[in-house]
Amino acid sequence: MDRNAITVALPKGRLLPDCIRLLSAVGMRTTEEIDTSRKLLFSSEDGSARILVVRDKDLPTYVEYGAADVGVVGKDVLMESGADLLEPADLGFGFCRIVVARPASISGREDPTGWGHMRVATKYPRITTDHFASRGEQVEIIPLYGSIELAPLVGLADRIVDLVSSGETLRQNNLAEVEEVARITARLVVNRASMKIKSDRLAPLIQAIRQETEREQRGVNQTRTGR
Ligand code: PRP
Repeated sequence: MDRNAITVALPKGRLLPDCIRLLSAVGMRTTEEIDTSRKLLFSSEDGSARILVVRDKDLPTYVEYGAADVGVVGKDVLMESGADLLEPADLGFGFCRIVVARPASISGREDPTGWGHMRVATKYPRITTDHFASRGEQVEIIPLYGSIELAPLVGLADRIVDLVSSGETLRQNNLAEVEEVARITARLVVNRASMKIKSDRLAPLIQAIRQETEREQRGVNQTRTGR
């Protein structure tokens, strides 16, 4: 392993295949199958980088503390973490939205007085609190770890704040979107100190990733316009 090796943190799960593809496109190939292996620590083929595979919610911590110099994480996880990181590139992939949803059977205008007592189930307590607070609304947060859509169906909450991708989970549970809170994509994040100390390694990597992302997005747009 190169003594000046940089450490890259990648999130387990949905974003991992796109992350591996992106790194490979900028010349950072891995020697093993990092998306299938149970190993968590890898080396790039040329030994110039260590690659960590971590839980997405833990990733901002690894980068903020400098255990990794650079990482890829969903904007939702980044916002919720509150970590103090540089965010030099929007990678475009992993698109989804965070929305407020409620049972579809409730119709008509809502009674605004009810909002003061509203219970909102979410795995994003910080994002949810900030969203409602920005409008001067105080809500009771019901923190959950998953299957958030169940909460309003069994009277645990009046609303949910959760990720929507295809919208299928909302539909199948008779929930309707009330409003959009945020649009989410994967972001490149960098440790502040690493950016200064290892700029000779990180600046070209960030530049290559930006160029590759732009190239891919041009390709997508050309496909959309049929060119
Ligand atoms: C996410 C999210 C929604 C679902 C949305 O859940 O929390 O439940 O995906 O996707 P859709 O709009 O395409 O249906 P995840 O699969 O991460 O599981 P979880 O509910 O246990 O967090």
